[in-house]
Amino acid sequence: MSDSRVPRRRRFLVCEPRHFAVQYAINPWMHPDVRVDVDLAREQWQKLIAAYRAHGHTVDRVEPVAGLPDMVFAANSALVVGGRVFGSLFHAPERRPESVHYESWFKTAGYDVHRPESVCEGEGDLVWTGRYVLAGTGFRTTREAHREAQEFFGHPVISLTLVDPYFYHLDTALFVLDDSAGGNNIVYYPEAFSPGSREVLKRLYPDAVLATRDDAMAFGLNSVSDGRHVFIAPRAEALAARLDDHGYVPVPVDLSEFHKAGGGIKCCTQEIRS
Ligand code: ARG
Repeated sequence: MSDSRVPRRRRFLVCEPRHFAVQYAINPWMHPDVRVDVDLAREQWQKLIAAYRAHGHTVDRVEPVAGLPDMVFAANSALVVGGRVFGSLFHAPERRPESVHYESWFKTAGYDVHRPESVCEGEGDLVWTGRYVLAGTGFRTTREAHREAQEFFGHPVISLTLVDPYFYHLDTALFVLDDSAGGNNIVYYPEAFSPGSREVLKRLYPDAVLATRDDAMAFGLNSVSDGRHVFIAPRAEALAARLDDHGYVPVPVDLSEFHKAGGGIKCCTQEIRS
């Protein structure tokens, strides 16, 4: 079965954690009194980049900016589908300045950037499935931004309500295993969603892989899949074993220092879909 899972080469945008730190608390994982080991963080991050490259993916870098400790979480900068860039407008004032830096990277790379009018935290809450966008709300990105994204992309945007503050971004509670037409499927942690949103996910993905709270607390839902390899937190071993049963190949990458800021593998990774 393993051989039926076909990887697709991806282009990722990342930001080196040169200025990474926990200096404020905007989610329950963040405790500014807890020290971040900056050298370890950089080492962990470099291993992620090396793992992507070793699996054939292209990695571009945006230059980090001093004073923006969360800029390493590149996923929040935009959602890019079909070469069209829907930018970001952060909820927290501390993160608002990040948007323009990412915007200039995109412009230099030849993309126009749509600036959302309402709070929107990129791929943190807007997840492209290959057919439509699953969109989180409840803590950060607003429903108004979901409507704006639908108008911008002309793809259906399906709003889902997040209810657990530990899973404040959609990409901490759900990820896409396979965005191809044939194998389209996701993994999610049902209790992170409102009852109605759970029903929606069940209808759309009757064969989804369901995760437990332990998987989610280990940042196992903040994974990146290329359709075959799943870059996943090593502490989410129960989930990794289930993915293996489903024919996927887990690639463990430890970003434990970033968990202190409420982020993991997916948070550090923006996908550019041309
Ligand atoms: N400290 C950051 C924040 O709370 C972490 C962002 C994580 N990014 C993500 N895509 N979930 O905004």
